[in-house]
Amino acid sequence: MSSEEVLWVEKYRPTRIDDIIDQDHVKARVKEMLANGNIPHLLFFGPPGTGKTTMALAIAHELYGDAWRENTLELNASDERGHCDD
Ligand SMILES: Nc1ncnc2c1ncn2[C@@H]1O[C@H](COP(=O)(O)OP(=O)(O)OP(=O)(O)O)[C@@H](O)[C@H]1O
Ligand SMILES: [Mg+2]
Repeated sequence: MSSEEVLWVEKYRPTRIDDIIDQDHVKARVKEMLANGNIPHLLFFGPPGTGKTTMALAIAHELYGDAWRENTLELNASDERGHCDD
């Protein structure tokens, strides 16, 4: 895949909390935290593809704007499934 090709899941991933579908109670709570400037450690759980990573990245966008990438370290357990070297 060349650097110009982007997976659709990345290309169309919402970057704003308001664009995330459903999860209204989570969105409301997260927006409250952002407004208060007080973000505790958060753990999102749920079935694959329901917006956990999207929510985490949207929070980074809200906090850091265009500089979100420089302020984020993404270690995604979804990238490595069922593999162990030990
Ligand atoms: N609630 C949502 N609103 C809008 N788009 C969503 C939502 N949930 C998932 N998507 C879309 O599906 C794609 C996958 O979502 P995401 O990577 O956030 O899922 P996940 O919960 O982190 O899954 P996994 O458990 O596999 O890591 C995103 O790129 C996004 O476009
Ligand atoms: Mg994920």
